[in-house]
Amino acid sequence: MLRTLGTCYYPEHWPEEIWPEDARRMAEAGLTWVRIGEFAWSRLEPNPGELQFGWLDRAIEVLGSAGLKVVLGTPTATPPRWMADRHPDMFAVDDQGRVRGFGSRRHYCFSHTGYFAESQRITRLFAERYGKNPHVAAWQTDNEYGCHDTVVSYSTAAKSAFQDRLREQFNGDINALNDAWGNIFWSMEYRAFDEIALPTLTVTEPNPAHVQAFRRFSSDQVIKFNRAQVDIIKAHSDAPVSHNYMGRITDFDHFKVGDDLEIATWDSYPLGFLEDRVGATPEQQRAYARQGDPDFQALHHDLYRAVGNGRWWVMEQQPGPVNWAPYNPAPLPGMVRLWSWEAFAHGAEAVCYFRWRQAPFAQEQLHAGMLRPDSKDAPALGEALQVAAELKDAPEVQPAQAPVALIFDYDADWAWSTQPQGHGLSYFGLILDVYRSLRRAGLSVDILRPETRDFTGYKMVLAPGLMHMPADLKQALVETDAQVLFGPRTAARDESFNIPTPLPPALPGLDVTVSRLESIRPDMPRALQDGGNVILYVEELEGSATPILHTETGDVVAMRTGQKTYCGAWLDGVGFDRLLRRIASDAGLRLRDLPEGIRIRQTATEEFWFNYTTETVKTEAGILPPAGVLRRPLIA
Ligand code: GAL
Repeated sequence: MLRTLGTCYYPEHWPEEIWPEDARRMAEAGLTWVRIGEFAWSRLEPNPGELQFGWLDRAIEVLGSAGLKVVLGTPTATPPRWMADRHPDMFAVDDQGRVRGFGSRRHYCFSHTGYFAESQRITRLFAERYGKNPHVAAWQTDNEYGCHDTVVSYSTAAKSAFQDRLREQFNGDINALNDAWGNIFWSMEYRAFDEIALPTLTVTEPNPAHVQAFRRFSSDQVIKFNRAQVDIIKAHSDAPVSHNYMGRITDFDHFKVGDDLEIATWDSYPLGFLEDRVGATPEQQRAYARQGDPDFQALHHDLYRAVGNGRWWVMEQQPGPVNWAPYNPAPLPGMVRLWSWEAFAHGAEAVCYFRWRQAPFAQEQLHAGMLRPDSKDAPALGEALQVAAELKDAPEVQPAQAPVALIFDYDADWAWSTQPQGHGLSYFGLILDVYRSLRRAGLSVDILRPETRDFTGYKMVLAPGLMHMPADLKQALVETDAQVLFGPRTAARDESFNIPTPLPPALPGLDVTVSRLESIRPDMPRALQDGGNVILYVEELEGSATPILHTETGDVVAMRTGQKTYCGAWLDGVGFDRLLRRIASDAGLRLRDLPEGIRIRQTATEEFWFNYTTETVKTEAGILPPAGVLRRPLIA
């Protein structure tokens, strides 16, 4: 598979006369892919049933004749205004019961059956018309499921679909649900499934079992919505189907959506993310303001490689300042190139820049493109040209199994947010901290889905924070000959969100019991012996496993038997570095001491070095200028 570049284009935004020139310039810039169509519904069907696909036919022809391959997006993220007249109750409803109105995008509720049918209808029109078009080389369903907080909807449609699902899950036995959820607590027992409301606007917190069940349901609604489109597209086209996921959006199980798709793509906005979702300290935000967080993109690259079962792209790469974060600086010169190469280093097949030309109108006027609004080159175009030239020398995608595996579980993320037990306690945040530590040690990481049972080939497997861990996963992790890290909160809840007995984690062969747990104020870290701190969350551990990490006051933080370790705390950077380096070195892995802001990634044959800092840094691989990228053959 070749490594390729592309862009996102909106022919409906520009006069038809300039399409050929745009297409020519894209091809000359070395781009292969052009994604179109995903927001164009109001121009394709200006009135219900009045189809105007002629312009899209011509746009595809113009782009295809210039040698570009089209990724065609279904336009279901932006139903036009008339849809609201047809389906006045199609809008999602927020947790305060407010209807999320028309005037931007993603305003539909996944559970609305009328809109569901409309989404199938427009998808069918696309698939029938373009399924055999030689220029349509890939598809995209919708746009960024879950972006703008759009998975969970408290609508009437969601309520009745949720009740149906529970009825089915509990075989119509309401007492079974009452028992499973513990509804006797506070007299919350129901007499029938249609008495069950959605878990919001309760006087104090709703039952966590109820919340978690609703989160699982909401995720499944996305899977169903996506699958309906995929089935239609596949009936008419052999081209691969993709979806563009987002950064740190965890409200639906991406692995399960990915099961229906050939390719996972994601939209990478490193500077926007650093400001609005990484959770970095103000110091880190300043240090990396124009480069982005050194680990956040990489984590998503690895996550989406797993979601795509190996095949993944960056569908939207930030090309310059964006418009939507609290602060929107320009990337340091060279960063657009660095981000592109970093994606390739993690096995991306394609990197597409969002967007081709900056729009002088509407919400994203201040979002850079590869071209300025006057069509002159913007800085990103030059960097893309450089990457295109460099790709000639490194054309092939070179995936390889990494030595370290980190399990990522969307269900665990919902469980932590359903019952965080303290401010700032987030599963995603924990995973990011663990991942950072692995990266600081120079380790390449594979993300694995929680259904994985075969860990062959991995020397180290990490499964922090899996609040519900099925018995067969426990068994597989205990049996693998890799070094394994469990905890904190491993198997802390059963399937129905109750505390199991024997008390967690109840791991065969690793005698550790969590007898009590605490959350900790961020300004009250607990020092570890020999460096680092416990932060935010800590468990009291009992059992006969060997203690290997203590606080200065002598509390046991981690215990071990053989190659299996349980850590009952959230540690700071130094703490995780110490623990993970110890486990990694016991696993026989080569550890590096990378300078601040330097990261490396290995493919099957290459080793990449990236400089995320604003300084020139001397490394064992050579001197790296700010935003520098170094690629060298892998030395075994
Ligand atoms: C993405 C989205 C694009 C565009 C972009 C701006 O989340 O898919 O349509 O809005 O953000 O950065």
